[in-house]
Amino acid sequence: MNLLRKKHPNEFINHQHAKLRKCLSRFDLIFLGIGAIIGAGIFVLTGIAAATKAGPALVLSYVLAGFACAFSALSYAELAAGIGGCGSAYGYAYVGFGEIIAWLIGWDLLLEYAISASAVSVGWSGYFENFLIAIHLHLPNSLLHGPFEGGILNVPASGIILILTGLLVLGAKLSANINNVMVIIKLAVILLFIYVAAFNVQPANWHPFLPFGFQGVVNGAALIFFAYIGFDAISTAAEEAMNPQIDLPIGIIVSLAICTILYMVVTALLTGITPYFHLNVSSPISYSLHQIGHHLIAGIISIGAIAGLTTVMLVMYYGLTRIFLAMSRDGLIPEFFAKINGSTNTPIRVIVICGIIMSLFAAFIPISDLAELVNVGTLAAFITVCAGVIIMRYTHPEIPRPFKTPFSPLIPVLGIISCAYLIINLPLITIIRFIVWMAAGMIVYFVYGRIHSNLAKN
Ligand code: ALA
Repeated sequence: MNLLRKKHPNEFINHQHAKLRKCLSRFDLIFLGIGAIIGAGIFVLTGIAAATKAGPALVLSYVLAGFACAFSALSYAELAAGIGGCGSAYGYAYVGFGEIIAWLIGWDLLLEYAISASAVSVGWSGYFENFLIAIHLHLPNSLLHGPFEGGILNVPASGIILILTGLLVLGAKLSANINNVMVIIKLAVILLFIYVAAFNVQPANWHPFLPFGFQGVVNGAALIFFAYIGFDAISTAAEEAMNPQIDLPIGIIVSLAICTILYMVVTALLTGITPYFHLNVSSPISYSLHQIGHHLIAGIISIGAIAGLTTVMLVMYYGLTRIFLAMSRDGLIPEFFAKINGSTNTPIRVIVICGIIMSLFAAFIPISDLAELVNVGTLAAFITVCAGVIIMRYTHPEIPRPFKTPFSPLIPVLGIISCAYLIINLPLITIIRFIVWMAAGMIVYFVYGRIHSNLAKN
């Protein structure tokens, strides 16, 4: 533990600032995971991926991406339980690889979490618009879309981020309780879909099963990988978990397992009730139910999707603030942000600044274009965590490991290979955008972080 103290200034800083409150149970952590995982991936991207990438074989894409995530989740579980801290992969990289790699991973995670919350808010706004139409309320188009999509600003997308800002300011426990309720709603509508769809499958829709060949399955996996993102956000709750060493691995693994099973069943049924080439729509699950005449259930599913997308934003936003907090405690981002409010026990300054930036993104930018950026960023973080498990077994054997990744180094190596394979199957433009973002991160580091970090000061 002493070695850890020397390597990670966060350990000292913790004593100077008010701490986050330990208030999250095992149940909360599993629900945080499901809250972050099930969202736009299954409610929006599945249809597009089936129609344009993989056809009915999208179910195999879910298996492929699921394996990459399972290997990474087992690696996350070891480091989250052993190292902890609210910085997730940023904190593990700090201990394992030093400040500069940690900064790059932290910078990468800021992109992942901020863009995914903002991107999902734009999807949320689409569902919300449908809901307003259903209750005969009409907002002008100019207030429903940003300037790149023919409007002025996307008020619902921006508004929901600001509402979540207020919720996160009020406290992690309250946020977790609200998350739990919305997760139950979202699971209920998914089970409802499964129940209704199971009686309406036309096996003929599964032929041809591989219309785009195996390459289509891989391309589909690189896209719907987005659907799995979020289990890693559980690790940012390490400081607020009541029993982190046991509950974090359980939360990560159980939430991922539940979501993987649901995804495969939903995808198989979706392509079984509607021909895959009809699914290139923004709300494929409701759409397919409309197609088979279940209009009421389609409406209920849309409301469940609104709840589902809200929890993704909430948990990704939560994770963003905790990583931001960890980085500012280390001095890589101005320490002004590291203050935790004594009465709410939340990092209000971080929450507000992140909320303002994301609500501006949501209001003006067609973030859907950038969603694939989230995948490449997350895959890069997963690779770091898998590599961290292997390397830290040698460099930091003294770290207590209440959970050990089984069959190490095989599982982490498979995690690295499968995540790298998904990265190279993403569109080139996505990879270039990612490189540009990371290059910008290097500049910020040399201009600010390297000079102001606690490591530099010490
Ligand atoms: N996994 C999350 C979603 O599908 C990011 O919305």
